Amino acid sequence: MRFVAANCLREGMQLAKPLYRGPNTMLSTGITLNNAYIGGILRAGYAGAYIEDDLSRDIEVIDTISGELRTETMRGIQKIISTARQGGKKPHPVNVSAQIECIVRELSGNRNVMVNMLDLSSYDSYTYSHSLNVAVLSIVLGIAMNFPVSDLIALGSGALLHDIGKVFINKQIVQKNGPLTPEEFELMKTHSQMGYDYIMSEYRLPPRSCRPILEHHERYDGSGYPLQKKGTGISLYGRITALADVYDALTSERPYRKALPPNEGVEYVMASAETLFDPEAVNAFTKRIAPYPVGTSVALSNGWTGLVIRNYASYCLRPKVRVYRQDGRAVKPFEISLKDDFGYLNVTIKGIA
Ligand SMILES: [Fe+2]
Repeated sequence: MRFVAANCLREGMQLAKPLYRGPNTMLSTGITLNNAYIGGILRAGYAGAYIEDDLSRDIEVIDTISGELRTETMRGIQKIISTARQGGKKPHPVNVSAQIECIVRELSGNRNVMVNMLDLSSYDSYTYSHSLNVAVLSIVLGIAMNFPVSDLIALGSGALLHDIGKVFINKQIVQKNGPLTPEEFELMKTHSQMGYDYIMSEYRLPPRSCRPILEHHERYDGSGYPLQKKGTGISLYGRITALADVYDALTSERPYRKALPPNEGVEYVMASAETLFDPEAVNAFTKRIAPYPVGTSVALSNGWTGLVIRNYASYCLRPKVRVYRQDGRAVKPFEISLKDDFGYLNVTIKGIA
């Protein structure tokens, strides 16, 4: 399968992965796209879709977490959010740590786990998918930093709930399709503290799990909010969640701006090491987040175009590529490894094709 941007989807293409809307499936695997489906995909705000074709039939894009676990966790987040909206008193609707433990078990089954796929979510499920993505990214970074399972669960629980305080902010501000006024921004900034206070009083989570809720907008150089904490004055969980939050927000399609492709999101994060983000967390990030995920087409510096078919942890800029075009002309596909083939060590990836 390979990834096709939404504006390049055509009638007759066959969907290779389902498209979800919140916890529900909008289009299932195997469906042949027609104009009505493509119109629906564009309107719902998906960045694109994975499709099946002869060039990519044997390429498997492995979900970072299984569809079932994703659906179940999204339902959990929905319940947590709607309980908080209603005033949020006990009994707790969801055992957050137990749900996160399932994700941690799935992810840490492979300590070399990489985030190797594009997030595909619609505009209207952003709140839920963003919460889940930030938890998954944070856990993957924790794995790269050799956290034990108990720490991964504590980190993931806080990361999942990082934005819960937004339920206490006026909906019109939270959902505004454009830049906030200075007054609106001041109000928005209160979500970290409100979320922290709410979870500390209503959920039985260890205090260290609640730190990402309070600290996910703090920045390594002290330029964040609410307390302008700096460096290691921000907890490690807070520093990791801050990075995961920004990367996922940048690479998600929003009604008022296009998603950045993963390679540009990765560059932004790398360029912000020691200013916005903890350099250690950035280091873990660059080893585990594929800037060119499996199934994406890339332009090479020698004029060739190919499909990424494999990524290697710690060598994320040197994937295995199936070349299918040379200097604009279609050729019989063949494979090269930018990491291992000596003949191509001077060839680099210029960008997504
Ligand atoms: Fe936030």
